[in-house]
Amino acid sequence: MKAIEIRNKYLNFFKNHGHSVIPSAPLIPENDPSVLFTTAGMQPLVPYLLGEKHPAGVRLTDYQKCLRTNDIDEVGDNRHLTFFEMLGNWSLGDYFKDEAIAMSYEFLTKELGIDPSKLSVTCFAGDEDAPKDTVSAEAWKKAGIPEERIYFYGKDNNWWIAGEEGPCGPDTEMFLDTGKPACSPECQPSCNCGKYVEIWNNVFMEYYKSKDGSITKLKQQNVDTGLGLERMTMLLQGKETPFDTELFLPVMEKLKELAKVENIESRRIVAEHLRSSIMVISDGGRPSNIDRGYVLRRLIRRMTRHLNKLQINLDELGNLIDLYIETLKEMYPELVQNKEIIKQTIIEEKNKFMKTLSHGEKEFEKAVNKLKQENKNVIDGYTIFKLYETYGFPPEITSDLAKEQGIQIDLTEFDKLFKEHQEKSRLGSEQKFKGGLAEQNEQTTKYHTATHLLHKALQIVLGEHAKQNGSNITVERLRFDFTHPEKMTPEQLKQVEDIVNEQIKRDLKVTCEEMSLSEAKESGATGLFENKYGEKVKVYTIGDFSKEICGGPHVTHTGELGHFKIIKEESSSSGVRRIKAILE
Ligand code: ALA
Repeated sequence: MKAIEIRNKYLNFFKNHGHSVIPSAPLIPENDPSVLFTTAGMQPLVPYLLGEKHPAGVRLTDYQKCLRTNDIDEVGDNRHLTFFEMLGNWSLGDYFKDEAIAMSYEFLTKELGIDPSKLSVTCFAGDEDAPKDTVSAEAWKKAGIPEERIYFYGKDNNWWIAGEEGPCGPDTEMFLDTGKPACSPECQPSCNCGKYVEIWNNVFMEYYKSKDGSITKLKQQNVDTGLGLERMTMLLQGKETPFDTELFLPVMEKLKELAKVENIESRRIVAEHLRSSIMVISDGGRPSNIDRGYVLRRLIRRMTRHLNKLQINLDELGNLIDLYIETLKEMYPELVQNKEIIKQTIIEEKNKFMKTLSHGEKEFEKAVNKLKQENKNVIDGYTIFKLYETYGFPPEITSDLAKEQGIQIDLTEFDKLFKEHQEKSRLGSEQKFKGGLAEQNEQTTKYHTATHLLHKALQIVLGEHAKQNGSNITVERLRFDFTHPEKMTPEQLKQVEDIVNEQIKRDLKVTCEEMSLSEAKESGATGLFENKYGEKVKVYTIGDFSKEICGGPHVTHTGELGHFKIIKEESSSSGVRRIKAILE
């Protein structure tokens, strides 16, 4: 069964069980500075898990594009992926454990044809926060899983939360026995020897974990599930790795044909990172030195280095991207329309890296000459780390170059510095996740409304082409990216400010209506029409001034906003300008 068939079967199955099919949200969360990327299907749905009414109903199903980069250094082995697709079904205060489990079992055994004797499941063992999940265990027994294949584990295995704070709860996980020999008589699903592979997770989100660590009950009992598409495809096709499935195979084979050296690990890294880069750029990501942009930069640079390692001519990159888009366009049709910007962005970044690469090599030569003068032959970890940090120079390159010069390098010290660096970035992104939920406050609400006013004002002053390209709101300011080919003049900026302040003075009423996407389009509402919830959308109207599709929240009257002031106008990326503005 091909990946697209599994996805379609999944969505149809849940549609037939009363779920609305909603489109994937973008990989880059809209209006949400709290997370770098969408890392799980539940992330775009957090407000609805907390109790807000979803326009498409209480039973939802979708495929969600996800990116997780905490394991980036593991990519190249036979299973780690940074980009992956998660299939999910949600109950927002509707069905709970019994029905969720019955549907999961039916889908796996009847729709996918998995032999029930190969399935094992795990349930939450219970602790001071929540009781032992005997309800799930009973539901599994009723479905057809015998008691000896039902395991109970603690929070480490059977509790799910994204980050430190947010909706959470016990989960029940399904495992497939691959038929590989057990590593020991005690081998069970929690063992990572490879015999058991997790295929699906049902989270029963009825709790909320606060910043202080306390756990309270949510208003409603939700179900959040996640089935990794690449892994399921690989298992159903009897393949050893996801790289052997049709999602990667054409590119893997092309890389083999082009490479002058045999190196399966490098081919996998190129295929994996190139796919993730294509998906991130298609959803609006651009390389930079911070946050999301830095993740993308690392992906592209690591990919480029491994292309070099395979001795593949870098001019082939454009053709490889064409081939990938051809391979993936049935799954992600949006790639076709974004093809040019994807190619341009990746090739530009590759070129930049090639420049730093030669600067880094010069820096390396300097370090070697200094060593030789001092009659030493060991390069210290700080130098390797500097080459890594300043020139994006992976330690493997330093290591290869050092070998050629008969010099040893101290990777232990480098590893220590690198770990510290990683820890800092990890804390950085956790901090970002934590920030998010708390910031849904008065000030950010005002900035959401101000963003709509700004968007419209830009279109009045610059023309219809000035469309939203990205938005980011914190308690201190709004940031708005839009398409426009050149720097705005001071007069244009003043005009925009004046128009926004004029609308604030008029104290326009802000109203919200729910309607279908086609009704929204007909009503003349602006907004990103792709990637939006299928059935119903919210349209926010600000007096006679603006009408936009948006999830909100917004103020009720523009008079609440205060004084609007643009503090910066700059380039964001090619053809995209960025405005930062505050409310005083
Ligand atoms: N939110 C759950 C996960 O990502 C389903 O595994």
